[in-house]
Amino acid sequence: MPNDPLFPKTFLFGGALAANQYEGGFDKGNKGLSIVDVEPAGPERNKMLTHPGEYLKVRDDLYYPSHRAIDFYDRYKEDIRLFGEMHFSALRISVAWSRIFPEGDEENPNEEGLRYYDRIFDELIKYNIEPIVTISHYETPLNLVKKYGGWKNRILIKCYLKFAETLFKRYRNKVKYWISFNEINCITVSPFIAGALVLDKEKNKMQVIYQAAHHELVASAKATKLLHRIAPHAKMGCMLAFSPFYARTCKPADQMAALQQNHITFFFGDIHCRGYYPSYMKRFFAENGIHLEVADDDLQVLKENTVDFISFSYYMSYTTEADKKSDQWNGVYLKVKNPYIKSSDWGWPIDPIGLRYALNLLYDRYHKPLFIVENGLGARDEIEPDGSINDDYRIKYLNDHLVQVAEAIKDGVNVIGYTAWSPIDVVSAGTGEMEKRYGLIYVDRDNQGKGTLERRKKKSFYWYREVIDTGGSSLKKDNNF
Ligand code: BG6
Repeated sequence: MPNDPLFPKTFLFGGALAANQYEGGFDKGNKGLSIVDVEPAGPERNKMLTHPGEYLKVRDDLYYPSHRAIDFYDRYKEDIRLFGEMHFSALRISVAWSRIFPEGDEENPNEEGLRYYDRIFDELIKYNIEPIVTISHYETPLNLVKKYGGWKNRILIKCYLKFAETLFKRYRNKVKYWISFNEINCITVSPFIAGALVLDKEKNKMQVIYQAAHHELVASAKATKLLHRIAPHAKMGCMLAFSPFYARTCKPADQMAALQQNHITFFFGDIHCRGYYPSYMKRFFAENGIHLEVADDDLQVLKENTVDFISFSYYMSYTTEADKKSDQWNGVYLKVKNPYIKSSDWGWPIDPIGLRYALNLLYDRYHKPLFIVENGLGARDEIEPDGSINDDYRIKYLNDHLVQVAEAIKDGVNVIGYTAWSPIDVVSAGTGEMEKRYGLIYVDRDNQGKGTLERRKKKSFYWYREVIDTGGSSLKKDNNF
């Protein structure tokens, strides 16, 4: 006798990707350069991300993994067919901003770029896969950094809205779910990636970061307003990187430290869902010499245009304690090791219960539908002599997290979907590696860009399809954490 499904019939099940990590075709179809196209792989990468000012052009001596990525640009039919074979009902992708506005600030969009996404959406619809579209996923056009200094400049709101409006008008009949900014809170830890900011010479880095964050938040609210006007049936979501902080002990000061650290993330959710600057952040700004320039109607715009749903990535929980106050510019407390939690090969804590905890925290706070739009395990995979890839570690990770999603649904949390990062191996956003693999489909390509790009189904491919087909009743609930 089969078990009852754990997820509702309407639950959106699928995978998540970002254009710059899988499309390739960086100069095809009149595409302009984005910030990712100057992020090299290898030892120079960290230098670039911390001091981007010296790296804002393509150099002959460096390898840039986004340029060809996994060549989805030319192989999209094969890949979408494979997603269809896994019975996906949703695929989260992003539109590469510089494919539509190569320089970011043109008057008119690039028709060839728009036609490319017409083909992608049509192909998804052919397989009954609902596209979930991120408008900006770490891929601001490079020209907007060189000319205006990225999101610290208010002019980016105008550029972004033109881009968003173009997408809403063109795809309003094909796309229902939109996400304004990927992991918007990551601007506090990765200012170049998430805010297109070059902070090398800035004295008060936090001032610049939070001014840029304000611009992104206003852009997000204005895009929500536009979407509701252009496509009243469509839904706009914010997107947070949500790694809840635990206190290392029950010492009150440690609990307070964890709460303060969580506030740094909640700040972005609070503005998107409640529509105003929270009081704890006003204190944080005052104590850190941050004075935001706010235009006349900004606060009104934020108040009147809150999001329809909250999407978030969940990979891990963090732990902190009061004695570990950070002296860095971008954090309040440092992360410490949680003795109850193991880590991935890349040192990312693995905590399935943390996902149920996160879902409950967010739902208690905002009472809006929640969409898990990223969750997965980056690991090294090996091809067996018979050609199979037995990624049981990935299956266990996904299984255990999905079991906790089901628990949260039983708690009463309104979860509308889950898209695993990533349905196919892609370039890592953090490290630029190909060999930090998350995929359910293997891609023959290595960290230096060598390989045939051939696709190969992993064991997790078949496992995930069964989970989708059975509405989660095939999940194993007896795993120990
Ligand atoms: C999220 C990003 O932070 O994590 C993705 O939205 C990214 O773009 C994913 O790929 C996994 O991170 P990484 O660094 O392992 O690729």
